[in-house]
Amino acid sequence: MREKLVVGNWKMHGNRDQVNRLVEEIIAGAAETESKVEIGICPTYIHLEQAAKLLIAANIGISLGAQNVCFAEQGAFTGEVAAAMLAELGVTFVIVGHSERREIFGETNELIAAKFKVVQAHNMVPILCIGESLEQREQGATEQVVISQLDAVIGDVGLPSLHDAVIAYEPIWAIGTGKTATPEQAQEVHWTIRDHLARQDAAVAAAVRILYGGSVKSSNARELFNQADIDGGLVGGASLEAEEFLSICKSAD
Ligand code: 13P
Repeated sequence: MREKLVVGNWKMHGNRDQVNRLVEEIIAGAAETESKVEIGICPTYIHLEQAAKLLIAANIGISLGAQNVCFAEQGAFTGEVAAAMLAELGVTFVIVGHSERREIFGETNELIAAKFKVVQAHNMVPILCIGESLEQREQGATEQVVISQLDAVIGDVGLPSLHDAVIAYEPIWAIGTGKTATPEQAQEVHWTIRDHLARQDAAVAAAVRILYGGSVKSSNARELFNQADIDGGLVGGASLEAEEFLSICKSAD
């Protein structure tokens, strides 16, 4: 059985005090429940170290994640952060290929594949984001878009690498819009992804966790997470409020 995973992507939010408070509240809330759900939080780079200290001190199994990484090991890459630096801080998960990075910062499948590789080279787990735009969905191209995004990375990193990775299906039209994919819409795409993998390697398909992301909140999380191929969520806005985030995590139990 795949263990459920709920990851908060805090994007570019918070200051030092707010981050300390949010991490402490999440730790306190998670410690109270005997949940089997794996929880991760992804603050900005600048807030990783303070979050790491609190998580290590609490030692209740909440994982730290980063929102991005440089494709290269080290060197003259002004403004970038290397995988080794993240690993040194105790980072477990690294989000790669988020649609905001693809669309706003022009990240290509090739670059995303390189980031995926460097994350695994440092024994961290990439969370590979894929998803279609509204226009692509309306054109009936959803399946083709997500499978081609996935295949572009698999072509570079090799299918077995997916065994130790997480996939996040995030329809762009559902991100930050309050419009969630229906559980049926999400399940259909998750099944398509898993089926595509199963045709190549049944063990990888059975092992890989596929998270849903896009306006997940406490009111819709349970129905989404109950779907057969939805293994948890990648949560943006709703992860910035401890009570709401913890309630989403509980929905995955
Ligand atoms: P929202 O939950 O704010 O829609 O964001 C989803 C997301 O982009 C998570 O990576």
